[in-house]
Amino acid sequence: MDDLRDKYIQAIANASDEAGLEDLRVQAVGKKGEVSLKMRELGKMTNEERQVAGPALNALKNEINSALAAKKEALGDAALDERLRTEWLDVTLPSRNIRQGSIHPISQVTEEVSAIFADMGFAVAEGPQIESDWYNFDALNIPGHHPARAEMDTFYTHRAEGDNRPPHVLRTHTSPVQIRTMQAQGAPIRIIAPGRVYRADYDQTHTPMFHQVEGLAIDKDISMANLKWVLEEFVKAFFEVDDVELRFRASHFPFTEPSAEVDIRCSWEGGTLKVGEGDDWLEILGSGMVHPKVLEAGNIDPNEYQGFAFGVGIDRIAMLKYGIPDLRAFFDSDLRWLRHFGFAALDAPTLHGGLSR
Ligand code: PHE
Repeated sequence: MDDLRDKYIQAIANASDEAGLEDLRVQAVGKKGEVSLKMRELGKMTNEERQVAGPALNALKNEINSALAAKKEALGDAALDERLRTEWLDVTLPSRNIRQGSIHPISQVTEEVSAIFADMGFAVAEGPQIESDWYNFDALNIPGHHPARAEMDTFYTHRAEGDNRPPHVLRTHTSPVQIRTMQAQGAPIRIIAPGRVYRADYDQTHTPMFHQVEGLAIDKDISMANLKWVLEEFVKAFFEVDDVELRFRASHFPFTEPSAEVDIRCSWEGGTLKVGEGDDWLEILGSGMVHPKVLEAGNIDPNEYQGFAFGVGIDRIAMLKYGIPDLRAFFDSDLRWLRHFGFAALDAPTLHGGLSR
């Protein structure tokens, strides 16, 4: 039995691949393997002999099986290490052919919007995508019972068992950045805040993650007329047309008073969308004068300051400008689509160089 042990333990240690290891398993503990044959001989032994040989053979079988398993794992690790070594790739190296990549229309449009507002003196602000419900709702004058909470199909995070604080949310809009900016820098303010937002909704015109750009201007003498001018300038520059007609429709948002939704005049003739002509109207944004309670939540005195705010759907205006019919295509990572709708990587949009191709 000692000879058998030495032979197999040695051979297992020397095995260089999994096939060789499997051969050894069959030879030793397979149905007709050497150890198995020895076990069959137990029947011919006397009781006394069997009481010694039985446990010893079992122990040998176990020892060989464990050695096989350990070696198998080691060979697997070595194979993985070898694969990692030969397939190693430095992802920080510059691309060999930069034309392979393109700028996604969402990134392009975000840059275009930023360039237009930068020209009007708006800085870019940011906030977290995982927000407290205070920033996402309460501070924006949406208290706990407010229907807007349910309407927004909010994604909530989980708290640990026994933790009764309200859960965090995936922000449902970029408006919480209004509050964060007010708190961080005080008045006056002139910012836009582009970024990802989340709502549990999925069809041709809704994806659970989408993009908005928030706008906020606060000063001592800001009026609805300023809002109107800024939005008109923005729409003309963005759609690259000299004349657009905007329609301000009275609306309601808890965080603005008064509130307006803005439509642009357009035509859908022949299935293609043209901005600035025709008899149709398309809603592109929500806006209004910042509610006094919202200013207070941001530690700004509403008796001294007022301002306007707006929120534009980036995906929406990207579809309009570049004629993209299905929102879901933005997230398919289809190379042919990206080549068709994508933008040259080194061609940053500017007002003087041209916003788009
Ligand atoms: N936050 C609003 C929405 O997501 C848009 C909005 C922003 C409206 C700012 C008014 C002022 O629908």
